[in-house]
Amino acid sequence: MDKILVVDDEEGIRYSFKKILGNTYTILTAANGIEAIELAGKEIPALVIMDISMPKMDGLETLQVLKERYPDITVIIMTAHSTSEKAINAMKHGAYDYITKPFENEQLMALIEKAIIESRISTPVTFQEEAGGAGDKIIGRSSAMLDIFKKIGQVSGSDVTVLITGETGTGKELIARAIYHHSDRIKKPFLPVNCAAMPEALLESELFGHEKGAFTGADNRKIGRFEQCDTGTMFLDEIGEMPPQIQAKWLRVLQDGCFHRLGGKDLIKTDVRIIAATNQDMHHLVEDKKFREDLFWRLNVVSIHIPPLRERRDDIESITHYLIHKYNAEYGKSIKGISDDLMKTFMRYEWPGNVRELQGVIQRGMVMCQKDHLSIDDCELRDRIVSNGSESQDLDSLLSAAADLLLKKGGPGVYKDGIAVFERMLINKALEKTGNNQVLTSRLLGISRNTLRSKIDN
Ligand SMILES: Nc1ncnc2c1ncn2[C@@H]1O[C@H](COP(=O)(O)OP(=O)(O)OP(=O)(O)O)[C@@H](O)[C@H]1O
Ligand SMILES: [Mg+2]
Repeated sequence: MDKILVVDDEEGIRYSFKKILGNTYTILTAANGIEAIELAGKEIPALVIMDISMPKMDGLETLQVLKERYPDITVIIMTAHSTSEKAINAMKHGAYDYITKPFENEQLMALIEKAIIESRISTPVTFQEEAGGAGDKIIGRSSAMLDIFKKIGQVSGSDVTVLITGETGTGKELIARAIYHHSDRIKKPFLPVNCAAMPEALLESELFGHEKGAFTGADNRKIGRFEQCDTGTMFLDEIGEMPPQIQAKWLRVLQDGCFHRLGGKDLIKTDVRIIAATNQDMHHLVEDKKFREDLFWRLNVVSIHIPPLRERRDDIESITHYLIHKYNAEYGKSIKGISDDLMKTFMRYEWPGNVRELQGVIQRGMVMCQKDHLSIDDCELRDRIVSNGSESQDLDSLLSAAADLLLKKGGPGVYKDGIAVFERMLINKALEKTGNNQVLTSRLLGISRNTLRSKIDN
Protein backbone atom coordinates (compact mmCIF):
# COMPACT_ATOMS: atom_id res chain seq x y z
CA MET A 1 0.00 0.00 0.00
CA ASP A 2 1.23 3.50 -0.77
CA LYS A 3 2.03 5.57 2.28
CA ILE A 4 0.36 8.91 2.85
CA LEU A 5 1.56 11.28 5.51
CA VAL A 6 -1.19 13.47 6.96
CA VAL A 7 0.00 16.57 8.80
CA ASP A 8 -2.52 18.51 10.83
CA ASP A 9 -2.55 19.90 14.35
CA GLU A 10 -6.18 18.90 14.80
CA GLU A 11 -6.53 15.38 16.02
CA GLY A 12 -10.05 15.08 14.56
CA ILE A 13 -8.74 15.68 11.07
CA ARG A 14 -5.96 13.14 11.42
CA TYR A 15 -8.48 10.64 12.68
CA SER A 16 -10.91 11.21 9.84
CA PHE A 17 -8.18 10.73 7.25
CA LYS A 18 -7.39 7.38 8.79
CA LYS A 19 -11.02 6.47 8.62
CA ILE A 20 -11.57 7.57 5.04
CA LEU A 21 -8.30 6.35 3.52
CA GLY A 22 -7.07 3.67 5.89
CA ASN A 23 -8.35 0.80 3.74
CA THR A 24 -6.65 1.99 0.59
CA TYR A 25 -3.44 3.53 1.90
CA THR A 26 -1.14 3.29 4.85
CA ILE A 27 -1.81 6.50 6.73
CA LEU A 28 0.95 8.04 8.79
CA THR A 29 0.20 11.13 10.85
CA ALA A 30 2.11 14.05 12.28
CA ALA A 31 0.75 16.81 14.49
CA ASN A 32 3.23 19.47 13.43
CA GLY A 33 5.85 20.41 10.86
CA ILE A 34 8.83 19.15 12.79
CA GLU A 35 7.33 15.71 13.25
CA ALA A 36 6.36 15.73 9.58
CA ILE A 37 9.89 16.44 8.35
CA GLU A 38 11.28 13.70 10.53
CA LEU A 39 8.69 11.14 9.42
CA ALA A 40 9.04 12.07 5.74
CA GLY A 41 12.75 11.28 5.93
CA LYS A 42 12.16 7.94 7.61
CA GLU A 43 9.13 6.65 5.76
CA ILE A 44 9.42 8.26 2.31
CA PRO A 45 5.66 8.62 1.80
CA ALA A 46 4.20 8.65 -1.71
CA LEU A 47 2.28 11.76 -0.76
CA VAL A 48 2.03 14.34 2.00
CA ILE A 49 -1.28 16.05 2.78
CA MET A 50 -0.70 19.00 5.05
CA ASP A 51 -2.71 21.73 6.71
CA ILE A 52 -1.44 25.19 5.95
CA SER A 53 -2.11 26.79 9.30
CA MET A 54 -0.43 25.08 12.18
CA PRO A 55 1.15 26.56 15.30
CA LYS A 56 4.94 26.98 15.46
CA MET A 57 6.05 25.88 12.03
CA ASP A 58 3.21 26.47 9.58
CA GLY A 59 2.47 24.43 6.47
CA LEU A 60 4.26 26.78 4.14
CA GLU A 61 7.50 26.70 6.08
CA THR A 62 7.27 22.96 6.44
CA LEU A 63 6.66 22.66 2.72
CA GLN A 64 9.78 24.64 1.99
CA VAL A 65 11.94 22.47 4.21
CA LEU A 66 10.40 19.30 2.78
CA LYS A 67 11.02 20.47 -0.78
CA GLU A 68 14.59 21.44 0.00
CA ARG A 69 15.40 18.10 1.55
CA TYR A 70 13.29 15.90 -0.70
CA PRO A 71 12.77 17.78 -3.99
CA ASP A 72 10.65 15.00 -5.48
CA ILE A 73 8.16 14.83 -2.63
CA THR A 74 4.53 15.40 -3.60
CA VAL A 75 2.61 17.63 -1.22
CA ILE A 76 -1.05 18.57 -1.20
CA ILE A 77 -1.88 21.55 0.98
CA MET A 78 -5.18 21.95 2.83
CA THR A 79 -6.52 25.43 3.35
CA ALA A 80 -9.65 26.95 4.79
CA HIS A 81 -10.25 29.47 1.99
CA SER A 82 -9.95 28.76 -1.68
CA THR A 83 -8.52 32.14 -2.57
CA SER A 84 -6.08 32.46 0.23
CA GLU A 85 -2.71 34.02 -0.56
CA LYS A 86 -1.15 31.16 1.32
CA ALA A 87 -2.52 28.56 -1.03
CA ILE A 88 -1.14 30.40 -4.03
CA ASN A 89 2.16 30.69 -2.27
CA ALA A 90 2.08 27.02 -1.55
CA MET A 91 1.78 26.28 -5.25
CA LYS A 92 4.68 28.58 -5.96
CA HIS A 93 6.78 26.72 -3.46
CA GLY A 94 6.18 23.46 -5.20
CA ALA A 95 3.00 22.06 -3.67
CA TYR A 96 1.37 19.66 -6.07
CA ASP A 97 -2.10 21.03 -5.49
CA TYR A 98 -4.29 22.36 -2.74
CA ILE A 99 -7.68 21.48 -1.49
CA THR A 100 -10.03 23.61 0.55
CA LYS A 101 -11.70 22.46 3.71
CA PRO A 102 -14.29 21.12 4.01
CA PHE A 103 -14.00 18.73 1.09
CA GLU A 104 -15.97 15.85 -0.35
CA ASN A 105 -14.43 12.44 0.17
CA GLU A 106 -14.67 11.67 -3.51
CA GLN A 107 -12.91 14.85 -4.47
CA LEU A 108 -10.16 14.00 -2.03
CA MET A 109 -9.81 10.43 -3.26
CA ALA A 110 -9.60 11.52 -6.88
CA LEU A 111 -6.95 14.12 -6.12
CA ILE A 112 -4.88 11.65 -4.12
CA GLU A 113 -5.04 9.04 -6.82
CA LYS A 114 -3.98 11.52 -9.44
CA ALA A 115 -1.14 12.86 -7.30
CA ILE A 116 0.21 9.41 -6.53
CA ILE A 117 0.13 8.25 -10.12
CA GLU A 118 1.80 11.39 -11.30
CA SER A 119 4.47 11.34 -8.64
CA ARG A 120 5.20 7.72 -9.38
CA ILE A 121 5.69 8.37 -13.06
CA SER A 122 7.63 11.55 -12.74
CA THR A 123 10.21 10.15 -10.42
CA PRO A 124 13.51 10.40 -12.24
CA VAL A 125 13.88 7.85 -14.99
CA THR A 126 17.49 6.87 -15.19
CA PHE A 127 18.70 4.80 -18.04
CA GLN A 128 21.08 1.95 -18.23
CA GLU A 129 22.76 3.19 -21.35
CA GLU A 130 22.94 6.86 -20.66
CA ALA A 131 24.28 6.53 -17.16
CA GLY A 132 25.81 9.72 -15.92
CA GLY A 133 22.93 11.91 -17.04
CA ALA A 134 20.94 13.60 -14.34
CA GLY A 135 17.95 11.40 -15.12
CA ASP A 136 15.01 12.67 -17.07
CA LYS A 137 11.53 13.23 -15.86
CA ILE A 138 8.33 13.32 -17.80
CA ILE A 139 6.69 16.58 -16.95
CA GLY A 140 3.03 17.14 -17.59
CA ARG A 141 -0.07 18.45 -15.90
CA SER A 142 -2.41 18.48 -18.89
CA SER A 143 -5.19 15.96 -18.80
CA ALA A 144 -3.70 14.31 -21.89
CA MET A 145 -0.44 13.71 -20.07
CA LEU A 146 -2.18 12.52 -16.92
CA ASP A 147 -4.01 9.96 -19.02
CA ILE A 148 -0.70 8.88 -20.47
CA PHE A 149 0.79 8.53 -16.99
CA LYS A 150 -2.13 6.31 -16.06
CA LYS A 151 -1.62 4.21 -19.15
CA ILE A 152 2.08 3.82 -18.44
CA GLY A 153 1.14 2.59 -15.00
CA GLN A 154 -1.34 0.14 -16.45
CA VAL A 155 0.89 -1.38 -19.12
CA SER A 156 4.28 -1.38 -17.44
CA GLY A 157 3.58 -4.42 -15.29
CA SER A 158 2.76 -6.74 -18.17
CA ASP A 159 4.63 -7.74 -21.31
CA VAL A 160 2.03 -6.37 -23.66
CA THR A 161 3.30 -4.77 -26.88
CA VAL A 162 2.84 -1.01 -26.92
CA LEU A 163 2.75 1.33 -29.88
CA ILE A 164 3.58 4.95 -29.09
CA THR A 165 2.59 7.55 -31.65
CA GLY A 166 3.15 11.28 -31.80
CA GLU A 167 4.88 14.00 -33.76
CA THR A 168 8.62 14.40 -33.60
CA GLY A 169 9.90 15.59 -30.23
CA THR A 170 6.74 14.80 -28.26
CA GLY A 171 8.55 12.38 -25.96
CA LYS A 172 7.93 8.96 -27.48
CA GLU A 173 11.26 7.56 -26.43
CA LEU A 174 10.99 9.13 -23.01
CA ILE A 175 7.66 7.36 -22.49
CA ALA A 176 9.03 4.08 -23.81
CA ARG A 177 11.83 4.30 -21.27
CA ALA A 178 9.36 5.12 -18.52
CA ILE A 179 7.36 1.98 -19.34
CA TYR A 180 10.56 -0.01 -19.20
CA HIS A 181 11.65 1.68 -16.02
CA HIS A 182 8.43 0.75 -14.29
CA SER A 183 8.35 -2.80 -15.61
CA ASP A 184 9.63 -6.05 -14.11
CA ARG A 185 12.31 -6.10 -16.79
CA ILE A 186 14.12 -3.12 -15.31
CA LYS A 187 17.20 -5.19 -14.45
CA LYS A 188 17.42 -6.50 -18.03
CA PRO A 189 18.58 -4.54 -21.09
CA PHE A 190 16.65 -1.82 -22.88
CA LEU A 191 17.69 -1.78 -26.50
CA PRO A 192 16.63 0.94 -28.91
CA VAL A 193 16.69 0.08 -32.61
CA ASN A 194 15.93 2.68 -35.20
CA CYS A 195 14.36 1.11 -38.28
CA ALA A 196 15.14 4.17 -40.39
CA ALA A 197 18.81 4.35 -39.54
CA MET A 198 20.08 1.43 -41.60
CA PRO A 199 19.71 0.09 -45.14
CA GLU A 200 17.49 -2.97 -45.40
CA ALA A 201 20.23 -5.59 -45.86
CA LEU A 202 22.14 -4.37 -42.85
CA LEU A 203 19.07 -3.94 -40.70
CA GLU A 204 18.07 -7.56 -41.08
CA SER A 205 21.40 -8.96 -39.99
CA GLU A 206 21.72 -6.31 -37.31
CA LEU A 207 18.39 -7.32 -35.85
CA PHE A 208 18.38 -11.05 -36.34
CA GLY A 209 22.06 -11.90 -36.78
CA HIS A 210 23.55 -14.23 -39.39
CA GLU A 211 25.38 -17.52 -39.72
CA LYS A 212 28.90 -17.81 -41.03
CA GLY A 213 28.78 -17.67 -44.82
CA ALA A 214 25.21 -16.38 -44.98
CA PHE A 215 26.36 -13.80 -47.54
CA THR A 216 29.64 -12.63 -48.98
CA GLY A 217 31.59 -11.08 -46.19
CA ALA A 218 29.83 -12.99 -43.42
CA ASP A 219 32.99 -14.54 -42.06
CA ASN A 220 31.65 -15.26 -38.64
CA ARG A 221 28.40 -15.98 -36.97
CA LYS A 222 26.80 -12.83 -35.65
CA ILE A 223 24.28 -12.67 -32.86
CA GLY A 224 21.64 -10.07 -33.66
CA ARG A 225 20.25 -7.41 -31.38
CA PHE A 226 17.10 -9.34 -30.93
CA GLU A 227 18.89 -12.30 -29.46
CA GLN A 228 21.09 -10.06 -27.33
CA CYS A 229 17.97 -8.53 -25.93
CA ASP A 230 16.56 -11.85 -24.69
CA THR A 231 14.53 -11.28 -21.49
CA GLY A 232 14.84 -7.52 -22.03
CA THR A 233 12.89 -4.75 -23.73
CA MET A 234 13.38 -3.58 -27.28
CA PHE A 235 12.42 -0.11 -28.41
CA LEU A 236 11.63 -0.31 -32.11
CA ASP A 237 11.73 3.26 -33.28
CA GLU A 238 10.33 4.64 -36.53
CA ILE A 239 8.55 1.42 -37.43
CA GLY A 240 6.84 3.19 -40.34
CA GLU A 241 10.18 2.91 -42.13
CA MET A 242 10.53 -0.83 -41.70
CA PRO A 243 11.21 -2.56 -45.04
CA PRO A 244 8.65 -5.20 -46.14
CA GLN A 245 10.92 -8.21 -45.80
CA ILE A 246 11.69 -7.33 -42.23
CA GLN A 247 8.03 -6.70 -41.54
CA ALA A 248 7.35 -10.33 -42.46
CA LYS A 249 10.04 -11.52 -40.11
CA TRP A 250 8.73 -9.37 -37.30
CA LEU A 251 5.27 -10.73 -37.69
CA ARG A 252 6.60 -14.19 -37.01
CA VAL A 253 8.55 -12.96 -34.02
CA LEU A 254 5.50 -11.28 -32.54
CA GLN A 255 3.30 -14.29 -33.21
CA ASP A 256 5.42 -16.93 -31.57
CA GLY A 257 8.69 -15.35 -30.52
CA CYS A 258 10.70 -17.31 -33.12
CA PHE A 259 13.07 -16.38 -35.93
CA HIS A 260 16.02 -17.65 -37.98
CA ARG A 261 19.39 -15.97 -38.14
CA LEU A 262 20.18 -14.94 -41.70
CA GLY A 263 21.27 -18.07 -43.54
CA GLY A 264 20.48 -20.16 -40.46
CA LYS A 265 18.34 -23.28 -40.11
CA ASP A 266 17.73 -23.30 -36.38
CA LEU A 267 14.61 -21.70 -35.11
CA ILE A 268 15.59 -19.38 -32.30
CA LYS A 269 13.21 -18.46 -29.56
CA THR A 270 13.54 -15.28 -27.58
CA ASP A 271 11.60 -13.51 -24.90
CA VAL A 272 11.62 -9.81 -25.74
CA ARG A 273 9.14 -7.15 -24.82
CA ILE A 274 8.50 -4.80 -27.71
CA ILE A 275 7.71 -1.12 -27.44
CA ALA A 276 7.33 0.45 -30.87
CA ALA A 277 7.09 4.08 -31.92
CA THR A 278 6.38 6.14 -34.98
CA ASN A 279 5.63 9.70 -35.97
CA GLN A 280 3.79 8.57 -39.07
CA ASP A 281 0.11 7.88 -39.51
CA MET A 282 0.13 4.08 -39.43
CA HIS A 283 -3.44 3.83 -40.71
CA HIS A 284 -2.38 5.65 -43.85
CA LEU A 285 0.65 3.43 -44.32
CA VAL A 286 -1.57 0.39 -43.98
CA GLU A 287 -4.07 1.79 -46.46
CA ASP A 288 -1.29 2.54 -48.92
CA LYS A 289 0.02 -1.03 -48.46
CA LYS A 290 3.31 0.26 -47.15
CA PHE A 291 2.85 -1.46 -43.83
CA ARG A 292 1.37 -4.91 -43.27
CA GLU A 293 -1.98 -4.74 -41.62
CA ASP A 294 -1.46 -7.96 -39.64
CA LEU A 295 1.80 -6.64 -38.24
CA PHE A 296 0.22 -3.32 -37.39
CA TRP A 297 -2.43 -5.03 -35.28
CA ARG A 298 0.19 -7.12 -33.54
CA LEU A 299 2.18 -4.03 -32.63
CA ASN A 300 -0.82 -1.94 -31.74
CA VAL A 301 -2.09 -4.07 -28.86
CA VAL A 302 -2.00 -1.02 -26.63
CA SER A 303 -1.49 2.38 -28.18
CA ILE A 304 -0.38 5.54 -26.51
CA HIS A 305 -0.80 8.72 -28.48
CA ILE A 306 1.12 11.79 -27.32
CA PRO A 307 -0.59 14.94 -28.57
CA PRO A 308 1.62 17.72 -29.91
CA LEU A 309 2.64 20.37 -27.39
CA ARG A 310 0.40 23.02 -29.00
CA GLU A 311 -2.61 20.84 -28.10
CA ARG A 312 -1.63 20.64 -24.45
CA ARG A 313 -0.47 24.13 -23.71
CA ASP A 314 -1.00 23.55 -19.99
CA ASP A 315 2.28 21.68 -20.06
CA ILE A 316 4.38 24.46 -21.56
CA GLU A 317 4.84 26.33 -18.32
CA SER A 318 5.72 23.36 -16.16
CA ILE A 319 8.13 21.92 -18.73
CA THR A 320 9.76 25.35 -19.05
CA HIS A 321 10.32 25.59 -15.31
CA TYR A 322 11.60 22.07 -15.14
CA LEU A 323 14.09 22.72 -17.95
CA ILE A 324 15.33 25.96 -16.39
CA HIS A 325 15.91 24.12 -13.16
CA LYS A 326 17.68 21.31 -15.00
CA TYR A 327 19.98 23.55 -17.04
CA ASN A 328 20.73 25.78 -14.07
CA ALA A 329 22.28 22.73 -12.47
CA GLU A 330 24.05 21.70 -15.67
CA TYR A 331 25.43 25.11 -16.57
CA GLY A 332 26.00 26.40 -13.07
CA LYS A 333 23.56 29.25 -13.66
CA SER A 334 20.94 30.61 -11.32
CA ILE A 335 18.19 31.82 -13.61
CA LYS A 336 15.01 32.20 -11.63
CA GLY A 337 12.36 32.03 -14.30
CA ILE A 338 11.14 33.56 -17.51
CA SER A 339 9.66 36.95 -18.28
CA ASP A 340 5.88 37.30 -18.65
CA ASP A 341 6.28 38.39 -22.26
CA LEU A 342 8.33 35.37 -23.17
CA MET A 343 5.87 33.04 -21.45
CA LYS A 344 3.03 34.63 -23.42
CA THR A 345 4.98 34.09 -26.61
CA PHE A 346 5.66 30.48 -25.66
CA MET A 347 1.96 29.99 -25.04
CA ARG A 348 1.09 31.24 -28.50
CA TYR A 349 3.88 29.60 -30.41
CA GLU A 350 3.12 26.55 -32.52
CA TRP A 351 6.06 24.37 -31.40
CA PRO A 352 6.42 22.30 -34.57
CA GLY A 353 9.37 20.51 -32.96
CA ASN A 354 7.41 20.00 -29.73
CA VAL A 355 9.24 19.48 -26.44
CA ARG A 356 12.57 18.95 -28.14
CA GLU A 357 12.25 22.39 -29.71
CA LEU A 358 11.26 23.97 -26.39
CA GLN A 359 14.28 22.32 -24.86
CA GLY A 360 16.57 23.78 -27.53
CA VAL A 361 15.11 27.26 -27.19
CA ILE A 362 15.59 27.26 -23.43
CA GLN A 363 19.03 25.72 -23.63
CA ARG A 364 20.27 28.34 -26.10
CA GLY A 365 18.46 31.11 -24.26
CA MET A 366 20.07 30.22 -20.97
CA VAL A 367 23.52 30.35 -22.48
CA MET A 368 22.79 33.88 -23.73
CA CYS A 369 20.93 35.12 -20.68
CA GLN A 370 22.82 37.57 -18.45
CA LYS A 371 19.95 38.45 -16.14
CA ASP A 372 18.03 36.39 -13.63
CA HIS A 373 15.01 35.93 -15.89
CA LEU A 374 15.01 34.54 -19.39
CA SER A 375 13.57 37.14 -21.76
CA ILE A 376 12.45 37.43 -25.35
CA ASP A 377 15.83 38.87 -26.33
CA ASP A 378 17.58 35.68 -25.24
CA CYS A 379 15.39 33.34 -27.28
CA GLU A 380 14.81 32.77 -30.91
CA LEU A 381 11.79 30.86 -32.18
CA ARG A 382 12.34 29.49 -35.61
CA ASP A 383 8.80 29.26 -36.86
CA ARG A 384 5.71 31.35 -36.98
CA ILE A 385 3.40 32.10 -34.10
CA VAL A 386 0.13 30.19 -34.10
CA SER A 387 -2.66 31.75 -36.05
CA ASN A 388 -5.20 31.59 -33.27
CA GLY A 389 -2.71 33.51 -31.20
CA SER A 390 -3.16 36.48 -33.47
CA GLU A 391 -6.87 35.73 -33.65
CA SER A 392 -7.04 36.03 -29.91
CA GLN A 393 -5.16 39.30 -30.17
CA ASP A 394 -7.74 40.45 -32.70
CA LEU A 395 -10.45 39.39 -30.29
CA ASP A 396 -8.75 41.34 -27.54
CA SER A 397 -8.64 44.49 -29.58
CA LEU A 398 -12.23 44.07 -30.83
CA LEU A 399 -13.55 43.58 -27.33
CA SER A 400 -11.50 46.40 -25.98
CA ALA A 401 -12.93 48.71 -28.66
CA ALA A 402 -16.44 47.52 -27.76
CA ALA A 403 -15.78 48.14 -24.07
CA ASP A 404 -14.56 51.65 -24.87
CA LEU A 405 -17.71 52.38 -26.82
CA LEU A 406 -19.97 51.10 -24.08
CA LEU A 407 -18.18 53.11 -21.43
CA LYS A 408 -18.41 56.20 -23.56
CA LYS A 409 -22.14 55.68 -23.80
CA GLY A 410 -22.18 55.26 -20.03
CA GLY A 411 -25.40 55.16 -18.02
CA PRO A 412 -26.35 53.14 -14.93
CA GLY A 413 -26.94 49.90 -16.85
CA VAL A 414 -23.62 49.94 -18.67
CA TYR A 415 -22.31 46.79 -17.08
CA LYS A 416 -25.50 44.76 -17.29
CA ASP A 417 -26.33 45.88 -20.81
CA GLY A 418 -22.83 45.21 -22.07
CA ILE A 419 -22.81 41.67 -20.80
CA ALA A 420 -26.38 41.02 -21.98
CA VAL A 421 -25.72 42.32 -25.49
CA PHE A 422 -22.71 40.12 -25.87
CA GLU A 423 -24.44 37.08 -24.44
CA ARG A 424 -27.35 37.49 -26.82
CA MET A 425 -25.01 37.91 -29.75
CA LEU A 426 -23.04 34.81 -28.87
CA ILE A 427 -26.19 32.72 -28.51
CA ASN A 428 -27.74 33.98 -31.74
CA LYS A 429 -24.57 33.29 -33.70
CA ALA A 430 -24.32 29.79 -32.27
CA LEU A 431 -27.97 29.10 -33.11
CA GLU A 432 -27.34 30.34 -36.61
CA LYS A 433 -24.35 28.06 -37.03
CA THR A 434 -26.22 24.97 -35.86
CA GLY A 435 -29.40 25.71 -37.82
CA ASN A 436 -31.31 26.43 -34.59
CA ASN A 437 -30.53 23.04 -33.13
CA GLN A 438 -30.59 23.54 -29.38
CA VAL A 439 -28.70 20.39 -28.48
CA LEU A 440 -25.83 21.29 -30.77
CA THR A 441 -25.93 24.92 -29.71
CA SER A 442 -25.68 24.10 -26.03
CA ARG A 443 -22.78 21.79 -26.79
CA LEU A 444 -21.07 24.44 -28.90
CA LEU A 445 -21.42 26.97 -26.11
CA GLY A 446 -20.56 24.54 -23.37
CA ILE A 447 -23.74 25.22 -21.38
CA SER A 448 -26.62 22.95 -20.49
CA ARG A 449 -29.75 22.82 -22.60
CA ASN A 450 -31.80 24.16 -19.73
CA THR A 451 -29.55 27.15 -19.35
CA LEU A 452 -29.70 27.76 -23.07
CA ARG A 453 -33.50 27.54 -23.06
CA SER A 454 -33.83 29.95 -20.16
CA LYS A 455 -31.53 32.41 -21.94
CA ILE A 456 -33.55 32.17 -25.14
CA ASP A 457 -36.82 32.61 -23.29
CA ASN A 458 -35.57 35.72 -21.50
N1 LIG B 1 6.88 15.67 -21.03
C1 LIG B 1 8.21 15.87 -21.08
N2 LIG B 1 8.86 16.31 -19.99
C2 LIG B 1 10.19 16.52 -20.02
N3 LIG B 1 10.97 16.33 -21.08
C3 LIG B 1 10.39 15.89 -22.20
C4 LIG B 1 8.99 15.63 -22.27
N4 LIG B 1 8.68 15.21 -23.50
C5 LIG B 1 9.85 15.19 -24.18
N5 LIG B 1 10.87 15.59 -23.42
C6 LIG B 1 12.29 15.73 -23.85
O1 LIG B 1 12.27 16.16 -25.20
C7 LIG B 1 13.25 15.48 -25.97
C8 LIG B 1 12.59 14.73 -27.11
O2 LIG B 1 11.90 13.60 -26.60
P1 LIG B 1 11.96 12.18 -27.34
O3 LIG B 1 13.30 11.92 -27.88
O4 LIG B 1 11.39 11.17 -26.41
O5 LIG B 1 10.95 12.50 -28.52
P2 LIG B 1 10.45 11.55 -29.71
O6 LIG B 1 8.96 11.62 -29.68
O7 LIG B 1 11.07 10.21 -29.58
O8 LIG B 1 10.96 12.35 -30.99
P3 LIG B 1 11.34 11.76 -32.47
O9 LIG B 1 10.06 11.35 -33.12
O10 LIG B 1 11.94 12.96 -33.14
O11 LIG B 1 12.28 10.66 -32.25
C9 LIG B 1 13.98 14.58 -25.01
O12 LIG B 1 15.15 15.23 -24.57
C10 LIG B 1 13.02 14.38 -23.88
O13 LIG B 1 13.69 14.14 -22.67
MG1 LIG C 1 12.45 9.30 -30.82
